[in-house]
Amino acid sequence: MNLAGLSIYPIIQAPMAGGATTPELVAAASNAGALGSLAAPLLSPQIMFEQIDTIRALTQRPFTVNLFVQQTPQPAPEIIAQAIDLLKPVWEPLGWTTLPLPAKWCEDFSAQLDALIAARPAAASFTFGILTREQVERLHAANIFVIGTATSAAEAQAWQQAGADAVCAQGIEAGGHRGTFIGAQEDGPGTMALVPQIADAVGLPLIAAGGIMDGRGIAAAFKLGAQAVQMGTAFLACSESGIHPAYKQRLIDAGMAPPAALTKLTRCFSGRYARGLANRFIDIMQPVERQLPPYPIQNALTGSIRAQAGKTGDTEMMSLWAGQGVGMVRAMPAAQLVETLVAEWRHASAAGATQE
Ligand SMILES: Cc1cc2nc3c(=O)[nH]c(=O)nc-3n(C[C@H](O)[C@H](O)[C@H](O)COP(=O)(O)O)c2cc1C
Repeated sequence: MNLAGLSIYPIIQAPMAGGATTPELVAAASNAGALGSLAAPLLSPQIMFEQIDTIRALTQRPFTVNLFVQQTPQPAPEIIAQAIDLLKPVWEPLGWTTLPLPAKWCEDFSAQLDALIAARPAAASFTFGILTREQVERLHAANIFVIGTATSAAEAQAWQQAGADAVCAQGIEAGGHRGTFIGAQEDGPGTMALVPQIADAVGLPLIAAGGIMDGRGIAAAFKLGAQAVQMGTAFLACSESGIHPAYKQRLIDAGMAPPAALTKLTRCFSGRYARGLANRFIDIMQPVERQLPPYPIQNALTGSIRAQAGKTGDTEMMSLWAGQGVGMVRAMPAAQLVETLVAEWRHASAAGATQE
């Protein structure tokens, strides 16, 4: 299988952990000719199997399953105590006397990888870290196309050396977590600077991600050397996306907000830099941002606060992941979005050809 063989159109609906990429969204994207992706980083092997079965009941088309490459931490009690204390300004106003401890820090990655391989989706994508050559070979032995996320040319080269089949170049505009595994997460080129650098540095098929919201963005990514695009924020407002309705509304309203106030790169929610709409949680936690423990510890610790915000619909206490292109988000069914993107992309490509 090659990248082009995975979908009719070179458009990947990005995997988005936290409930956005429901089996219905993945299947709708794939049925419409794009490549749907299920975000499985926060799913147990059993839920992974269940969601993959649901996707297979809804589509015959290929789809991707995505994981975070990570190790389960064993933080010292003092680290947890300090982190809970630093979060006090956000949990105390909820009337809580302490912050409930999470049942676990994260899912076990090796068990998730075993489940992914057993489920044999057509493709798998990875972020936050890099697989070993042996892990890539296990995926290949199961006929799974392997996509590695890179935020720099050095990371793309590392994925090439590990045996990946394609690289997803994630620019700093992107919504959600940065995939960085070499160097500082909060630094890095935007999509326009990153894609051509990776195209020059590696010989692998390249997927551009970050800030691509319509057909003009798709055409531009192709000009820069990409063979496909991965779009997250654009699919977040789709009818099938599983995010909280109040979060969806904030995305739709974002187009009307003053541009400077739109998105921020923050590690306050999870301990790993991620881009989302600015809100009160970020404002309160930003002064101590660098003292917070790394992912997944901070992510697990803020889980109860975010769950409470979900219950009350308080978007000021939710993580509202979104990319810099959020002002261009369109609320519509995924099939209509894919159809619209393809029409716009053809139009933009034809306009470009006329000017040449
Ligand atoms: C809500 C949200 C959740 C995300 N979760 C994941 C994830 O679980 N795995 C992953 O590889 N990328 C994740 N991403 C990043 C996307 O794969 C992609 O890089 C990004 O959405 C591209 O930028 P855009 O949002 O401007 O289109 C997420 C993005 C968003 C917006």
